[in-house]
Parts: sequence; C-alpha cells; structure tokens
Amino acid sequence: MPDTSYLSAVRESYDTVAADYAASVKPPAELDPVSRAMLAAFAELVRDSGRGPVADVGCGPGKVTAHLAGLGLSAFGVDVSPKMIELARKAHPDLRFTVGSMTALELGDHELGGILAYYSTHHTPPELLRVVFAEFHRTLAPGGYLMLVCRVGKGEHLSRTLAYGDHPAPFESYRLPADRISELLEQTGLVVTARLLQGPAEGTVGSFMVRRPE
Ligand SMILES: C[S@@+](CC[C@H](N)C(=O)[O-])C[C@H]1O[C@@H](n2cnc3c(N)ncnc32)[C@H](O)[C@@H]1O
Repeated sequence: MPDTSYLSAVRESYDTVAADYAASVKPPAELDPVSRAMLAAFAELVRDSGRGPVADVGCGPGKVTAHLAGLGLSAFGVDVSPKMIELARKAHPDLRFTVGSMTALELGDHELGGILAYYSTHHTPPELLRVVFAEFHRTLAPGGYLMLVCRVGKGEHLSRTLAYGDHPAPFESYRLPADRISELLEQTGLVVTARLLQGPAEGTVGSFMVRRPE
C-alpha cells in the first residue's frame, strides 16, 4: 500500500485557505485565450468520444467543473478538502461534488469519458504520481481523455508556510520536468497526444492532453 499520509496536511491546509482561495481564483471565462482554448479542446474531444462523464479531480471550489458543464459535459468534482467541497456545492448546487482522493478514486474501472486535473497534482510527492496516474488509467474508458495542467520545472521541491490570504497553511509542492511527467503518464499505458508549455522558464505551465488507447 502506498504511503498517502501527506494527504492529511493537504486536506488541512486547503480547508484553512478554502474561502480565500475561492474568492481569489479567476473563473475560467477570465483566463487567457490559450488556457480557455485548451479547456475547450478537451471538452470537444470528450464530447465527441461519447465515452461517459468527466471527473474534475482536485476540483477546489468547482469553478472549472462548472465551466466544463457549461461546455456541454456531464462533469462532477472530487476533492480531498471537505471545505472546498462544501464551497463547491454551495456555489454550484446543480452539480455533484464528493470528497475523495485522486490516489484512490471511489469510481469503477473505465467509468469516465474524461478526467481533468487542473493545478491539483503538484502536492503529490513525485514517487506517488505513478499511483495517481494509474488511477487515471484505471477509471478512464478506453478512448477517454485526461487533461493535466500543472507548473513544470527542474524537479524543484517548494515549501511555503503562508498561503492565500496569509493563512498559516503549510504547502509542499513539486515542479517536475514536462518530459518526466509525460514519461510517468506513458508508463501507465496512457498516451500523451499533445503538450503545451506556457510562460517563462520560471513557473512554466504545462498542459498535457492524454488519451487512454482504445
Ligand atoms: C490549487 S487548488 C486547484 C483547484 C481547482 N482545480 C482550480 O483550478 O481552481 C488544488 C486542489 O487540489 C486538491 N487536491 C490536492 N491533492 C489532492 C488529492 N490527492 N485528491 C483530491 N484533491 C486533491 C486540493 O484540496 C485543492 O482543492
């Protein structure tokens, strides 16, 4: 069994900052055109493949989940922070949000037509990313799509003690090289079909469009 004890710190910290995070994070409609286009491309691919619902894993306050629903997807959210889920339910009462972890999704094999992991995998210790990606592979239907968006780097391990509104909330996060992320995804049997790197070298954002082969 993998050691997922880091999750209690993630849960506690996001519970602490949830309200300020929700107030400060931009809704996807206000993102830059390239980021919006990536989400639209993901939505189109999932819609056209007709394989099933989309899980927004690490959905936070559910703004992106609601954006996907607005793009015609049957989308629901999962997050390890109960406070985030409470806020998501309040803001989007028509959508389904559940507490859970991407390290062990409470979903059946091949149940999903799509998975979005939007700035939500970076707290996962690198040695556990293969566990998360194996969960993505297990729960995706053959022909289903994953879109993973995260900051990439040179393998940095960052620690901060204050976050979102200067709450004392410790966060450990990791910036892996884009090639390493692709490699880990492909080792599970997923295929990276497109990759976009945005921004300066420092803080570059990587978007990975990934498919589970038929
Ligand atoms: C930076 S926020 C991003 C939230 C949302 N995706 C957005 O873009 O607004 C990261 C979220 O990932 C969640 N998270 C981190 N690790 C997780 C895990 N293993 N399973 C589920 N959620 C997780 C956190 O609780 C937090 O709500």
